[in-house]
Amino acid sequence: MSDTISVHPVPESWARSARVDAEGYEKLYGMSLADPGSFWLEQSRRLDWVKRPEIAGDWSFEEADFRINWFADGKLNVSTNCVDRHLAKRGDAVAILWEPDAPDEAPRRYTYRQLHAEVCRFANVLKAQGVRKGDRVTIYMPMIPEAAFALLACARIGAIHSVVFGGFSPESLAGRITDCDSAVVITADEGRRGGKKVPLKTNVDAAAQHVRCLEKVIVVKATGGDVPMQEGRDIWYHAAAADVPADCPAEPMGAEDPLFILYTSGSTGKPKGVLHSSGGYLLWASLTHELVFDYRPGQVYWCAADIGWVTGHSYIVYGPLANGGTTLMFEGVPNWPDASRIWQVVDRHKVEILYTAPTALRALMREGDQYVASTSRQSLKLLGTVGEPINPEAWRWYYDVVGEGRCPIVDTWWQTETGGHMITPLPGATPLKPGSATRPFPGVDPQIVDGEGKVLHGATEGNLVIARSWPGQMRTVWGDHARFFQTYFTTYRGKYFTGDGCRRDEDGYYWITGRVDDVINVSGHRMGTAEVESALVLHPKVAEAAVVGMPHDIKGQGIYAYVTLNANCTADEALRAELTRWVRTEIGPIATPDALQFAPGLPKTRSGKIMRRILRKIAEGDVSSLGDTSTLADPSVVDDLVKNRVG
Ligand code: WTA
Repeated sequence: MSDTISVHPVPESWARSARVDAEGYEKLYGMSLADPGSFWLEQSRRLDWVKRPEIAGDWSFEEADFRINWFADGKLNVSTNCVDRHLAKRGDAVAILWEPDAPDEAPRRYTYRQLHAEVCRFANVLKAQGVRKGDRVTIYMPMIPEAAFALLACARIGAIHSVVFGGFSPESLAGRITDCDSAVVITADEGRRGGKKVPLKTNVDAAAQHVRCLEKVIVVKATGGDVPMQEGRDIWYHAAAADVPADCPAEPMGAEDPLFILYTSGSTGKPKGVLHSSGGYLLWASLTHELVFDYRPGQVYWCAADIGWVTGHSYIVYGPLANGGTTLMFEGVPNWPDASRIWQVVDRHKVEILYTAPTALRALMREGDQYVASTSRQSLKLLGTVGEPINPEAWRWYYDVVGEGRCPIVDTWWQTETGGHMITPLPGATPLKPGSATRPFPGVDPQIVDGEGKVLHGATEGNLVIARSWPGQMRTVWGDHARFFQTYFTTYRGKYFTGDGCRRDEDGYYWITGRVDDVINVSGHRMGTAEVESALVLHPKVAEAAVVGMPHDIKGQGIYAYVTLNANCTADEALRAELTRWVRTEIGPIATPDALQFAPGLPKTRSGKIMRRILRKIAEGDVSSLGDTSTLADPSVVDDLVKNRVG
């Protein structure tokens, strides 16, 4: 198969001008593994330290002395690294360039000097509300500059932020506020996306009914929409900000002090609070941003993610700002008012580097090339993708139609847990193969193992593990260190298990094949099948539910739910629609099932375990190869499932 794959060599101009060329990559990579201590201490100098670290990694993935520490004797503040240290040389350079939802509205720009004042003021407002070092602050915001100010303000005073994506429901928000025991929520009156309003403050009010720990809600006026304010609890940000100074000293933090929590879905249970450190995380975000995008200050760089996901944390806020960059923040959506919006924004702001998700590309590709062709895109130099494997058709469209064959594509594989890029091309160093995330970033030691954990060498396929720690690695699951160890380090002893399947070709290129656990990737968003199942069984008519992924043209994977009803409940179209809506309300629109099948029974083993393999095959429409069903307690349920397959 691999001989039919086109290889795109590194363009000569890139090999000459990029920070890292092919030889440079081999050297960096070799050093990073041969002498990680010196390598990482050297790299740590890219940050401004209050106290410079003298030790790099101190870690073990073994149960007996399990620990992950990087630069533990160092002290720094993340917000001064992202803001203050650029003031002398780049104070008047644009730090945040904001493109509003509506194209006829004016963009907003914040120089580093203005950003400094905004972040300090926000930090002082938090302090005035009693927020102290180590406290958790939940941020439930639209894509407006104040969201970035809020993150950096927390970092400035040492508070731990937990951003909850604005598309999550009040129930999901409440769960996350409670899990990290957050007394303060920062939100906005409303958000705007594609011309529609998102009732953020109202959602916070609804969430608050299920939460005990919440004391203060700080509300940024974004749309000016009429929202009720609760006396004693709710505070308008603009009013509070008027009373505080525009300077705020930054709290010196230990490199291992937490910077943020971000909830993400796993294969079991509720979403877990992935916790990232201050020093190691920032170093990773900054170094990967600089090398993978070959970023130079002055370039307009656009990561089209939402701040509610890790991509927004590392590559809208922390990485680019640590590097003194100009980061574009977009409030809207790619297909509104029409499918040329992304390219219009690129032209309007002369974007040089664009980083987006395969699902967005597939959706735009379907609309036809005329939406791209009507724009110039001459400013573009480099394209990036993230979130899921990119299918070669979408890769080629991005490369040929969007980039007109001129721009390398960096297909970056990483996870919420990894903090930043792990397997990715470097544009001046790595020949590209469409659909492959290519080679590991310096310091990353990937291995492919079989089901028993045996390391496979050469060209092979299996499960992807990382054999040693890297600075950007998550440090724990908030409030559940045992779950952290159990989830990631017990499947393959002494190694970090990614949950992804992977193939390595004869050139040592990595091809991520997708999740091998019960996590599905819907439009680049992670969704635990267990979460959707829990939402379904909360419905009074549902006895049991099983959820699997199914192939989906635009989303990559869709959600296929099998539902068994309680006795005396009638399966009809009205109930199907109701249950679909129910999940949407319980979790959020991204969890809406794409197909929902009523099943009189689920295929179970005699010990009661649901055979998901069979459910996946049926959802995929691959009913000819269901495998051995003789071990099922009741093999006849399979016939019914096949007969009544939906979609
Ligand atoms: C998938 C997003 C293939 C993968 C940054 C991973 C990818 C999960 C890629 C993490 C890629 C992300 N190629 N698969 N370039 N990037 N993935 O935590 O399955 O939201 O485990 O982090 O997305 O999703 P998460």
